Amino acid sequence: MKTLILSSNGPETPSIAAEIIKSGELVAIPTETVYGLGADGLNPEAVAKIFLAKGRPQDNPLILHVAEAADMEKFCHNIPQAAYILAEKFWPGPLTMVLPAKDCVPLETRAGLPTVAVRCPDNAVTREIIRLSGVPVAAPSANISGKPSTTTAEHVLHDHDGKIAAVVDGGPCRVGVESTIVDLTEDRPRLLRPGGITPEQLMEVLGDLVVDKAVVAQIDKDAVAKAPGMKYKHYAPQAEVVIVAGSRENAAAYIRSHFVPNDRVLCFEEELPLYSGCNPLSYGREADTATLSAGLFAALRELDSPGIGRVYARCPDGGGIAYAVQNRLKKAAAFRIIDPEVEV
Ligand code: TXA
Ligand code: MG
Repeated sequence: MKTLILSSNGPETPSIAAEIIKSGELVAIPTETVYGLGADGLNPEAVAKIFLAKGRPQDNPLILHVAEAADMEKFCHNIPQAAYILAEKFWPGPLTMVLPAKDCVPLETRAGLPTVAVRCPDNAVTREIIRLSGVPVAAPSANISGKPSTTTAEHVLHDHDGKIAAVVDGGPCRVGVESTIVDLTEDRPRLLRPGGITPEQLMEVLGDLVVDKAVVAQIDKDAVAKAPGMKYKHYAPQAEVVIVAGSRENAAAYIRSHFVPNDRVLCFEEELPLYSGCNPLSYGREADTATLSAGLFAALRELDSPGIGRVYARCPDGGGIAYAVQNRLKKAAAFRIIDPEVEV
């Protein structure tokens, strides 16, 4: 099939994309976080096409994207007060809430779970597409399963050209890492994935937050995970990624002494001069962590090439959006972290 490329500025784009969704085909849509691979979330056959295109494990449920907060009541029940408060404060925006699912949500969409994840994305064209399609749009990140997420239309075409009906090109995504996921179905709110809405922001509203263990450690692939997607190998380029911790100087000394040709260095812009001759790639500025989240996946994609040996990566410290960057980079590195200040 020929994949249509629709500009998000095109006056006809929302109606064309909505028609494709209504017809049960796939459209990649821009959001503030990453591009999603969208389909009618109430149509099991359309949802099956998402799993097929991504090579996604069947036990990994999808997020339903809604055009406005009030729509969550169509697909969820027993909604706690906290969900309304979070929606009021952070939607449209990079927050996904896991809530008890109504029966109208097909089991295929939620991978058989009694719950469903919902989110209202902060992208006006995409919300218009959802509104015109008249259904909630199920959309995982548009990457092939296991690979770094897609933050431009070019990334989407790289993975799916000729396999999906259309991509809506809305330029590079502003946040660059996927939404924060919070599970509100238990006694205590649980952070399943850090993202653009920070743990600090959630705490301020909820007053309580359990951080799921999948956020901070590798979960066995046969284990039962709260967010099934968190247990799979993820975000990884073909090369082995190793995070090198420690001060700028100690990390540079360690990397320079272990570097061999065909290795690469993924570092902060401020560190580029320390790695001359080591083929460094910057993904943003350490002093402005939003540039790191915005640049991370494009950089990991650039490093996804068979000729590369090892990737030595630098990871920001601290909370806020840096916490989400740490989570993605640690997963890309399968939690391999070297601290030269301890090793030497
Ligand atoms: O920013 C985002 O959330 C992007 C854009 C496109 O909206 N979407 C996204 O979807 O990241 P995906 O499928 O790549 O990641 C969704 C994660 C997976 O780890 C999945 O296991 C988890 O959400 N999830 C979905 N439904 C769930 C549920 N009912 N309970 C627990 N986890 C769920
Ligand atoms: Mg994903």
